[in-house]
Amino acid sequence: MPSQSETATPAPTARPDAAAPRSGWIPGTSAIRFGGDYNPEQWTRETWLEDIELMREAGVNLVSVGIFSWALLEPREGEYDFSFLDEILDLLAGAGIDVDLGTPTTVPPAWFWKAYPHAAPVTRDGVTLGFGSRGIVSPSSPEYRRAAEAIAERLAERYAHHPAVVMWHVHNEYGAPIAESFDEASVANFRTWLERRYGSIDALNRAWGTTFWGQVYRSWSEVDAPRRSQSITNPAHRLDFQRFSSDALLECFVLERDAIRRHATQPITTNFMATSCPAVDYWRWAPEVDLVSNDHYLTASRLDAHVLLAMDADFTRSLAGGKPWVLMEHSTSAVNWQPRNVAKRPGELARNSLAHLARGADGILYFQFRASRFGAEKFHSAMLPHAGTSSRVWREVVGLGDVLRSAEELRGSRVEASVAIVWSTESFWALDLDWRPSEDLSHRERLEAFYAALWERGVTVDFVHPSHDLSGYDVVFAPSLYLLDEPSAANLRGYVAGGGTLAVSYFSGIVDEHDAVPAGPFPGRLRDVLGLSIEEFLPLRDGEQVRLTDGSTGAVWSDDVVLEGAVAVSSYAEPAAGGGPAAGRPAITRNALGDGSAWYLSTRLDGADLGGFVDAVLADAGVAVDVPEAGLERVVRVGDDSTRWLVAINHADAPARVGAVAADGVDVASGARVAADDVVDAGAVRIIRLG
Ligand code: GLA
Repeated sequence: MPSQSETATPAPTARPDAAAPRSGWIPGTSAIRFGGDYNPEQWTRETWLEDIELMREAGVNLVSVGIFSWALLEPREGEYDFSFLDEILDLLAGAGIDVDLGTPTTVPPAWFWKAYPHAAPVTRDGVTLGFGSRGIVSPSSPEYRRAAEAIAERLAERYAHHPAVVMWHVHNEYGAPIAESFDEASVANFRTWLERRYGSIDALNRAWGTTFWGQVYRSWSEVDAPRRSQSITNPAHRLDFQRFSSDALLECFVLERDAIRRHATQPITTNFMATSCPAVDYWRWAPEVDLVSNDHYLTASRLDAHVLLAMDADFTRSLAGGKPWVLMEHSTSAVNWQPRNVAKRPGELARNSLAHLARGADGILYFQFRASRFGAEKFHSAMLPHAGTSSRVWREVVGLGDVLRSAEELRGSRVEASVAIVWSTESFWALDLDWRPSEDLSHRERLEAFYAALWERGVTVDFVHPSHDLSGYDVVFAPSLYLLDEPSAANLRGYVAGGGTLAVSYFSGIVDEHDAVPAGPFPGRLRDVLGLSIEEFLPLRDGEQVRLTDGSTGAVWSDDVVLEGAVAVSSYAEPAAGGGPAAGRPAITRNALGDGSAWYLSTRLDGADLGGFVDAVLADAGVAVDVPEAGLERVVRVGDDSTRWLVAINHADAPARVGAVAADGVDVASGARVAADDVVDAGAVRIIRLG
């Protein structure tokens, strides 16, 4: 083993509030946090000094440092050199800029790969991946875990009391770019994980239905990871491997978190990718972080990218249990990794950042402060672009810093929602496996469609897991909730019986947690909730459309629905009128159950037709909808003392009226009084303290 030595300067002095509570919000300033990733290892000391000056000019008060620094901090195994980090942290502390200190474990150094070749990740196709990029090695590698824990611990020992450090940022985007590994250590850990889950090999055989295609196992040592096989692999096997892989990454996080906690009291986070990392089950992760942080990038090819942004922010807030969260990364303009990297238009930077703020973010950070001149991301935008300070992007960054300063009073306030959408990562994993009745079934497409319909109506939503307490919501939408275990089904049943309004779309409640069909007709555990059964799925051909008696048009799917207590709100038209394979059968149903109601939508509706369905469900629950003018996004945040603020973001090219909700309000930036007829200029944002 290499010797343990250190070449760095002595540890800096203690921060005054080192005994601050461990969890909760970031200690220090009460301002909204503003800043970004900062990678000083790419720059000279002279540039650091310039950067710090510019950070101050922009109002930056938090930077994430050290995320990719392992190779510098531990140049040889067990030999540490903290000199660059000591210096930059001291400079930042001197300038009053706080640090979210990263553990650099997303890129183990070249020496690690050389010393531990078996730690390299292996893909499902059996390809061993090599060094030269970034991303974790096998999350189950004992050597990786030992090394990651060691560097996290050394950093915590050294910087727990550094005056700049207010927060810890473990690793970077667990699950990206790869989330699972098929190496030997992963297989061994998978077996242990399965033993813990099932207790006996017989129980595993039953859960996985291994009598199908003769897959019965006689001992744990026969169980492998679900590698690429001749035809499709047992879906229950694959589903468990996805659960295991998410848990294996989580174990890595917990290991580092606990190493830091042995020394430090500042909150510890890791940056999620809420709606863009399907491989990680964030519902299991969120309770493990001290505060939720998230990375979000616009999908440049989508004209409704701002709606997807809102969905991502709402999901992040939901993971945070409604508490304030940190937008750890987003971009000031174009990214560099999409097929066409579209630059943001003037004003879009503020609209995007403030949309996150509107939906609960109390920290607005970017990737990254200064644009890199070399490496894989030199064409990615930054707070300080290659064009320097005489650029629109820089001016907009500085302008946003001013807006955030004026919006400090919003810090700590919450977003309230009376409508929720069910988000079940396990269900999405299962639905995405092979050999479903139609390749057009897409949970993601349905989630986005329902979310967009609610966004257009100005309805703020939370996301919920199907096992959560739903009693606080007037309406719960469950688009494509394919997998549903008995406790979650009972929870939905109890929610409806207790007075809730549930709206379920097709291909929901179809399988249990092992991807097995419960006894009896579809939709399994939702039959009594919905008051119907499905005699046969009637998926539609590519491009085929069906007409409903209420005039709407369905696509992708239909069912042969048998009413068992529910009433048909709308049916498939007769054959001659284009009702398709389910002609004459119920298409949309409503079941009264206990004090509530459960709706079922058996086909894919889009646009105004889906909007009509959503309106009917909201009206059934008595939810008042105040639709904003087209393109205007309005979200209300509520303070502990019941002060309410409206964030109004105009995505349209024409001015939009703020509306009655803002009457008698006060514009937070200007102090001017606001009337309902006042407008938000095209492309602008207003933050209004409501009267
Ligand atoms: C991710 C990473 C960053 C950077 C950005 C670029 O969010 O965490 O390091 O690569 O993407 O968009």
